[in-house]
Amino acid sequence: MNILEILKEPDPILRKKSAPVKQVDREIKKLMNNMLDTMYAAPGIGLAAVQVGILKRVVVIDISKEANKNEPICLVNPEIIWKSDILEKKQEGCLSIPDYFADIKRSNACHVQYIDEHGKEKLLKAEGLLATCIQHEIDHCNGILFIDYLSKLKKSFILKKLVKAKKNQK
Ligand code: NI
Repeated sequence: MNILEILKEPDPILRKKSAPVKQVDREIKKLMNNMLDTMYAAPGIGLAAVQVGILKRVVVIDISKEANKNEPICLVNPEIIWKSDILEKKQEGCLSIPDYFADIKRSNACHVQYIDEHGKEKLLKAEGLLATCIQHEIDHCNGILFIDYLSKLKKSFILKKLVKAKKNQK
């Protein structure tokens, strides 16, 4: 098991845009495995490479609910090629924004094109929680956090709390 440190907001790296992966090689596979270990240990249902300080478009997700039965999805260079016009509010959290949750409006379904852990091109038709999760993680690859969708006032409130929490850690 290889558990990596998860960066917490505010951290300038979380605001950077991740670069596309050229090839799913041994290094990328190792990164995916380490990200899965880190996500399960947290615990969380999604993690983008930028959250562990690696600016590459790699995302891992597992929304399976059954205990002891993991169903990980690894997405390299994920790209949303279709999004439903129907928006739904769902509660979101983020491993980079500990102990804070908010209702965020997103498309309730999307189709995502990506490269899997074997280097194969795939198309995933997602709805519900999986669609939310994919949109949230792709946002990470573009330097966007879910608190960016909140009002200025709410965002500055949570940012102040995050800064304080970081200071107390030191
Ligand atoms: Ni997140």
